[in-house]
Amino acid sequence: MTTLADRLKDADLLKTDSFINGQWVGADTRFAVNSPGDRSHLADVADVGGAGARSAIDAADKAFKGWGKTSVFERARIVQRWHDLILEHADDLGTLITAEMGKPFGEAKGEVTYGAGFVNWSAEEAKRLHGETLQTPFPGTRGWTVRQPVGVVVCITPWNFPSAMITRKCGPALAAGCSVVVKPAPETPLSALALAELARRAGFPDGVFNVICGDAKAIGEVMTSSDAVRMVGFTGSTEVGKLLMRQAADGVKRVSLELGGNAPFIIMDDADLDAAADGVIASKFRAAGQTCVSANRIIAQAGIADALIERVTERMKKLKVGSGFESGVQIGPLIHDEAVERVDALVQDAKGKGAKVLVGGSPMADELGGSFYAPTLIESGSNFSLSIANSEIFGPVASVYRVESEEEIIRLANSTPYGLAAYVYTRDIGRVHRLSEGLEFGMVGVNAPMVGSPATPFGGVKESGIGREGGKWGVEEFTELKFVLLGGVNK
Ligand code: SIN
Repeated sequence: MTTLADRLKDADLLKTDSFINGQWVGADTRFAVNSPGDRSHLADVADVGGAGARSAIDAADKAFKGWGKTSVFERARIVQRWHDLILEHADDLGTLITAEMGKPFGEAKGEVTYGAGFVNWSAEEAKRLHGETLQTPFPGTRGWTVRQPVGVVVCITPWNFPSAMITRKCGPALAAGCSVVVKPAPETPLSALALAELARRAGFPDGVFNVICGDAKAIGEVMTSSDAVRMVGFTGSTEVGKLLMRQAADGVKRVSLELGGNAPFIIMDDADLDAAADGVIASKFRAAGQTCVSANRIIAQAGIADALIERVTERMKKLKVGSGFESGVQIGPLIHDEAVERVDALVQDAKGKGAKVLVGGSPMADELGGSFYAPTLIESGSNFSLSIANSEIFGPVASVYRVESEEEIIRLANSTPYGLAAYVYTRDIGRVHRLSEGLEFGMVGVNAPMVGSPATPFGGVKESGIGREGGKWGVEEFTELKFVLLGGVNK
């Protein structure tokens, strides 16, 4: 039987203990990590719990005192080395992602490269954290601003991007001079621990970068109640984000939250329908629909709805579902069986309330031996009260709605507490402006199905979060702006 270690070129990247203060730390209690693709057991990972969280935060607090004062050029060199090692080991990191999360290997490797881009960008960008000199109203004074690292940052990261959501937070945090404690999702700790091993090899001083695994409640409580922690970065559900925000409020900690979405994917009647159909497939089926920016409500202007559905159906019928390690597979499993049940419940509810299932519509676990769901296309008419229109689907289910007017499209698209990403396909320049301005979302892709990149701001409004990751904004997020007033300048 091939083990996960056998699949790796560098088996030393397979770690099962937490990384605290430059040491691998085990625990008596361990939790199992299983592969959603074939239900095989991958590893037993140490649960270091609240005590581990306390040691990691203490270590990060001590390390910050030196790291925060290191020259940014020195920090950038180490951060850049981490980036280079990540790319050098992209095959192994991709293998770990596919094994523990399920996404197809090519896509997993793409995630590694995407995530590494944030590390590289941050190493460069931190050198440009400039202050300003200011005019002051008081005679004989001068004023200026400086940007300083926030301090100890905790990053709580999700399973859908087990690698990129760590690098997107930690690259800028580390480059800005913060020390970091990462708590990965229990489903996908192996990618996080491999990144810790690469950080060790890159040469971060002990305590600057820590990864701890285990009980979310125990660790989360320590992280949000510790006085040493100055910032909580989180990607995950809106429900957990609200809880963390409440817990962080007592210590008035800074929060950066990238939460749930309910993305409208709007196709206007003047759109290039082939490009729009390609866009639907790209946005909807990446990570089997398990992304926060995935097309959740496909809103077609009524006149082109049939033509769009025909094109999407044609493309969906060609999608290959299976193990992420199998060549040619485009859709891997969902993260676990409960996810399959949740997605199926949404589909059955929509069907029961009159929506038509045009493609798929059922689990594929029995045929494929893992947590699989068939790529599914639903025609939901104009019924925006369905649960599927109001929940984050997080699965390979495309639900199409027909709406007549532009005004109604904007109103319906905005009728959600979420505001992460929205997409619009149109060739009318007036519509580009009206829609991109009218949509209450943090990111709008116009004739573009993907919005994230190392150079651009990623984040939401309303209940989709606070703060931005990526670009100069993603680095600034990990700094405090300090004002200095100097008096007694005049003789
Ligand atoms: C997410 O789903 O949380 C991230 C998606 C992305 O970076 O594109």
